[in-house]
Amino acid sequence: MALQLVLYLLGLLGSLLVSTAPIENWLQSIQVPGSGRFWHISDLHLDPTYHITEDRTKVCFSSQGSPALNPGLFGDYLCDSPYELIQSAFRFMREEDPNPDFMIWTGDSPPHVPAEKLSTDLVIRIISNMTHTIREFFPDLPVYPALGNHDYWPQDQLPIATNEIYQAVAKLWEPWLQPESLTTLRKGGFYSQVIRPNLRLVSLNTNLYYSPNKVTVNMTDPAGQFEWLVDTLDTCRQSDEKAYIIAHVPIGYLPYALETTAMREVYNERLVEIFRKYSDVVAGHFYGHTHRDSIMVLLDHEGQPVNSLFVTPAVTPFRHESEPSSNNPGLRMYYYNPHDYSLLDIWQYYMNLTEANLEKKPDWKLEYIMTKDFNIVDIQPKSLYGLAESFRAPQSETFKKYFNHFMHAGAKTDWELRRMAAVNRIPGVKQAPDGEIKGALATGGEFGFQ
Ligand SMILES: *[C@@H]1O[C@H](CO)[C@@H](O)[C@H](O)[C@H]1NC(C)=O
Ligand SMILES: *[C@@H]1O[C@H](CO)[C@@H](O)[C@H](O)[C@H]1NC(C)=O
Ligand SMILES: *[C@@H]1O[C@H](CO)[C@@H](O)[C@H](O)[C@H]1NC(C)=O
Ligand SMILES: [Zn+2]
Ligand SMILES: [Zn+2]
Repeated sequence: MALQLVLYLLGLLGSLLVSTAPIENWLQSIQVPGSGRFWHISDLHLDPTYHITEDRTKVCFSSQGSPALNPGLFGDYLCDSPYELIQSAFRFMREEDPNPDFMIWTGDSPPHVPAEKLSTDLVIRIISNMTHTIREFFPDLPVYPALGNHDYWPQDQLPIATNEIYQAVAKLWEPWLQPESLTTLRKGGFYSQVIRPNLRLVSLNTNLYYSPNKVTVNMTDPAGQFEWLVDTLDTCRQSDEKAYIIAHVPIGYLPYALETTAMREVYNERLVEIFRKYSDVVAGHFYGHTHRDSIMVLLDHEGQPVNSLFVTPAVTPFRHESEPSSNNPGLRMYYYNPHDYSLLDIWQYYMNLTEANLEKKPDWKLEYIMTKDFNIVDIQPKSLYGLAESFRAPQSETFKKYFNHFMHAGAKTDWELRRMAAVNRIPGVKQAPDGEIKGALATGGEFGFQ
């Protein structure tokens, strides 16, 4: 419950089906002068079995027997990514900006299939394939990965000590990481590394705290990661470094669940406390896993906004058959101040999968520019908190715009119920009657398939 006072979801921006007002070409040339920038990709979920065939139940293993809806060259909403889709994403990124400062990659390479369809060897081969693919497109770019709950076999059961998979990824990621980073990666699946002058990237293995992970049940500090994190952030403070936190499973609530955290609550609380204590050091949080474009703000004990947290949408379009709305593939660029590493903006891109399949052309495009779309000056905690405050008003026009803009027109969910669900995480707002919120969640129903 204490959590409710700390974190709230601003909501669910989608690289969902977007009804975009076209953003004029001239905007393309507006970039924050002198700013730094980096790509963020997540949840690629390659399905090597994807192929077009008469029998729609056989298009991909990841649809698990459901007939694919409209399979094409770049995929299907009930399937994980064909290789063509993943290549098109990196090709687009290279065309759009071949020279950012770096890239972050927050995990989940294997497909959503039952455990018996995969193995340790297959999981390593898929992560290896993704690693080599990134290097093919960006041979000289530093890339900083974090492990996802699917990057292990069996899925979710990431261990607290060294194993074949942590060792394999340490080998694969050698070109990007320093020897000290590889040492902790091999042992516990996490690392930190100074990546710019006075900027340390901290890649956490939050899969150790993920509720379905049976290995870590009842442990107070799996793999010693909490202690390591505190030491690392302490070092940052003493050396006048800022930190960017990257991880797969985010802290906070799942986007469509009012009271369910992605991590076990006790771990979630522990992380929240650590991040509050070092909020002056942490300049940004970047997560994946939910496949939903969402934002959170961390508040301190006085209720002041102190950190911005971002969950990026997935490259895979995958949804479970029972979910009502689909995701289009998405990826994004962050802009930051190169002097103090404060975050300035997000440029979110997406691909309309239906259209791409029709035209047999990938057609990635700009979906929104965060500051412009929401009329805020930057994406720092105060600005995001102000945006959230504007959602409090019943029938809030900002939220309506926000929600309608990022959900396709045919969404079955009532946006006003979604607004209340989001607003319930803002401290001081009275909880809406149970029935209404549960109704909103029942039509959403989008958890459990990450
Ligand atoms: C995607 O393309 C299809 C076909 O052109 C169109 O009907 C649909 O509205 C588009 N969706 C978005 C979100 O742009
Ligand atoms: C990755 O897998 C795809 C599809 O299975 C294959 O076509 C491609 O050659 C592989 N790429 C690398 C770099 O291993
Ligand atoms: C965890 O702790 C609970 C409560 O003490 C206990 O009932 C349960 O058996 C423990 N589970 C494991 C896997 O150790
Ligand atoms: Zn995922
Ligand atoms: Zn995941």
